[in-house]
Amino acid sequence: MLAQYNRLKEAYAGCLLLFRLGDFYELFGEDAEIASRILQITLTSREAGRGRRIPMCGVPYHAADSYIATLVHKGFRVAICEQLEDPKKAKGVVKRDVVRVVTPGTITDVLPEKNQFLVSLAAASGGSGYGLAACDLTTGEFTCTEVSGAEAGELVLTELHRLQPTEILQFKVPAALAAKIAELGIYCPETDERLFITDHARRVLLDHFDLLSLEGFGCEHMTWAVTAAGALLSYLIDTQKSAMDHITRLVPYSLSAYMILDAATRRNLELTRTARDGQYQGSLLSILDRTETAMGARLLRQWLEQPLISGDQINRRLDAIDDFRKDHAARGELGQNLKKVHDIERLLGRVAMGTANARDLLALAHSLEAAAAVQAVYTRLAASQELLQLAGETDPCLDVARLITLAVHPDPPVSVQEGGIICPGYNAEVDRLRAILTQGQSWVSGLEKEEREKTGIKSLKIGYNKVFGYYIEVTRPNLALVPDHYERKQTLAGSERFITPELKQKEEEILGAEERLKELEYDLFCQVRSQVAAHIGRMQELAGIIAKVDVYQSLADVAVTRGYCRPTINTAGRLTVKNGRHPVVEVMRREEPFVPNDIEMEAATRQILLITGPNMAGKSTYLRQTALIVLLAHVGSFVPADEADIPLVDRIFTRVGAADDLAAGQSTFMVEMNEVANILNNATANSLVILDEVGRGTSTFDGLSIAWAVTEYLHESPRCRPLTLFATHYHELTELEELLERVHNVHVAVKEEEGRVVFLRRIVKGGANRSYGLEVARLAGLPSSVLARARQVLDDLEQNERARMAKEIMAGELLPPPAPAELPPLSSRRPRTGKKAVTSAPEREVGQLALFAPVSLPPDALVSELAAIDPDDLTPRAALQLLYELHRKARERLEAVENTTA
Ligand SMILES: Nc1ncnc2c1ncn2[C@@H]1O[C@H](COP(=O)(O)OP(=O)(O)O)[C@@H](O)[C@H]1O
Ligand SMILES: [Mg+2]
Repeated sequence: MLAQYNRLKEAYAGCLLLFRLGDFYELFGEDAEIASRILQITLTSREAGRGRRIPMCGVPYHAADSYIATLVHKGFRVAICEQLEDPKKAKGVVKRDVVRVVTPGTITDVLPEKNQFLVSLAAASGGSGYGLAACDLTTGEFTCTEVSGAEAGELVLTELHRLQPTEILQFKVPAALAAKIAELGIYCPETDERLFITDHARRVLLDHFDLLSLEGFGCEHMTWAVTAAGALLSYLIDTQKSAMDHITRLVPYSLSAYMILDAATRRNLELTRTARDGQYQGSLLSILDRTETAMGARLLRQWLEQPLISGDQINRRLDAIDDFRKDHAARGELGQNLKKVHDIERLLGRVAMGTANARDLLALAHSLEAAAAVQAVYTRLAASQELLQLAGETDPCLDVARLITLAVHPDPPVSVQEGGIICPGYNAEVDRLRAILTQGQSWVSGLEKEEREKTGIKSLKIGYNKVFGYYIEVTRPNLALVPDHYERKQTLAGSERFITPELKQKEEEILGAEERLKELEYDLFCQVRSQVAAHIGRMQELAGIIAKVDVYQSLADVAVTRGYCRPTINTAGRLTVKNGRHPVVEVMRREEPFVPNDIEMEAATRQILLITGPNMAGKSTYLRQTALIVLLAHVGSFVPADEADIPLVDRIFTRVGAADDLAAGQSTFMVEMNEVANILNNATANSLVILDEVGRGTSTFDGLSIAWAVTEYLHESPRCRPLTLFATHYHELTELEELLERVHNVHVAVKEEEGRVVFLRRIVKGGANRSYGLEVARLAGLPSSVLARARQVLDDLEQNERARMAKEIMAGELLPPPAPAELPPLSSRRPRTGKKAVTSAPEREVGQLALFAPVSLPPDALVSELAAIDPDDLTPRAALQLLYELHRKARERLEAVENTTA
């Protein structure tokens, strides 16, 4: 037996080998040491010939699933070796072989609700492009795509971020990309390069789908996609060693059919998990997901991560949601029935792979019945194209449900080998054998009564156990009454057990029938299961429709209960939102009511919004809420606003400044600049760009210069003039409004009340007056003497720095970054007409001077500063200092006024 073990262990090197011995899976040697440590099970040892002993541990076969899952999630491959014949009937060593290799991408028990993708990535020679295929073995979804062009590597990463695979097969992936993939921490097995030979890969696909060409799937000419897909399928065949009839088609898709969301944007917008701690709660999905089925939940997640970019497709979804939104009662009825629909896709996976038990089949049948009730509801209310079409396509598959309910016992055990799984009346032989068993049982109790009378032993009992079979038990005081033809079998403390030839004969009859019955039931069950398997394609279609209906009712329910509106979609670059809200913050933050805000942007006139305001005022929230509203509209969902007119957007970019970027943790200025470069290189006129405090990761003046130049670039570049929202604490940037035509300032309003800052959370026109950092510090409880001193230092710094910068510029040491080639030279740019005309000095100087001119104080700033003083809290010395300070400021104010009026 150990020889057999060693042979298999060699063939599956790199796997932990789980070796079936009776009711246990055993591990030996090093495998046993690893498993005992990870699974916390006792390590024993076993004689290995010539007095040697090897380590050993085991897990009971009926509880193996969760142990296997634990090992696989720790990154091990697990090979499962079964007994291939009945040990009782085997001559010599029982035949055994590996029946399945479980890896992180192919585990089929103990699953999260979301998809579990195995991805295969094949690089075209020279890295000019990639084929990417993804398969969820548990549901049978199988897709592929191709990526090429300068940005190919980035797009592949973006797809990986979307798919969140648990395992990646790679072929000839260039080192730079491979290194980035390695950072994702996803299991990447060593793969056999032969799987990726294009002809071989294509053949595997054609064989599996039983086709002559892949034309029908529309991917015949996608060589790299086909290579990746074929390699993936071979890998599954090698590891699963079972039929995978639920993989019924290969679906090619194009990345250009969906909005592109890079990894940073997915994280910043917290689509499916929060940026801070990766939790589902607090993500956009957690707010939107009111689906009732696992299939609907997976589809909604998919939609959210792959927003559409076609107005027609978006409106189709909106129409369907509208159908459900209008009918409250129908939604309730729908929900009730959807609740009863199990995960049909995964049940079908188990059917195809031969692991579905009787309970699974029943769950499937009941799901089909519930699906029929669901169908009745949406067929009734369908008015939209989309729902009418779904209703027209629905094949309820009730014949399959009937097949199952007729054959399978309504209350079956988990095991499929212990009998009790076939319905009475389904098969005459099953019924006959069952009758023999019941008759046998009553014969036995008849015999018991008879023997009591014959022998006069009132306490005589007939019992049964696995070792001795049926026996007659007589207690010790009555032993004298036992007749001669009883044969003694066993002696216990207070009694003895006997058998009779008559009883043994009946026993054989009963046990024989029982054995036959179990085998027959198992065979019949397997037949039913493969009959069901023949209809997998139909049921998958149905499951797909149910999933969509579930998502529509979920989105409709959210729209109604949270007061979302239906967005209109335009292609004119117009973004108008009335009373928009942040979908998550409005729900999660209970301590203050959420203040809705409008937004108005237009590519041709209001392309860039600069948003200023003190810390904690709500700038980031406003940016994200805008991005989320745009994104939701592209998903085809209603949006949290009173009115929304949304431009079709090809990409949303977000860049969140280092200080706000908590998730990245080690985020450095370099990372920040990488992301900005990505935006400048890839944004188009149809993109939406969100910049939150860009430039924060470096010194003030570096950061300011970069922020300034980035804004100019986004405004001037003829290729990319995306709609841009830029939140910044650099007040100097607000001057850009004067210089660049389509730049506009808004700020988050605050008001001062009794010397304190009150956040109003309202976005209003114009730039914020000045940094309220000190006031926020006051809110936080800093002593007023410290605050006064801070103000003094700040003012000095501002004065000195400006003087120094101006000097440096004069000396030519710190010229503003050169304008990109496609930018018109600065001197030819004119301030927008209708805005404040800026002196007649040469334009180049104007740009620079405007940047470093003192920020003009609003008329009441000094007054409020005075009001903020707490005289009782000042030392005489501080009071004197403050007096000098106020005096100086007042002088400056007067001078500034004189200059502008001159
Ligand atoms: N419109 C709003 N209504 C209510 N609370 C808001 C609103 N906008 C922001 N907040 C709250 O204010 C706090 C600060 O918001 P944030 O956007 O991070 O500010 P900033 O980016 O300006 O520093 C957050 O905790 C947020 O929940
Ligand atoms: Mg912020």
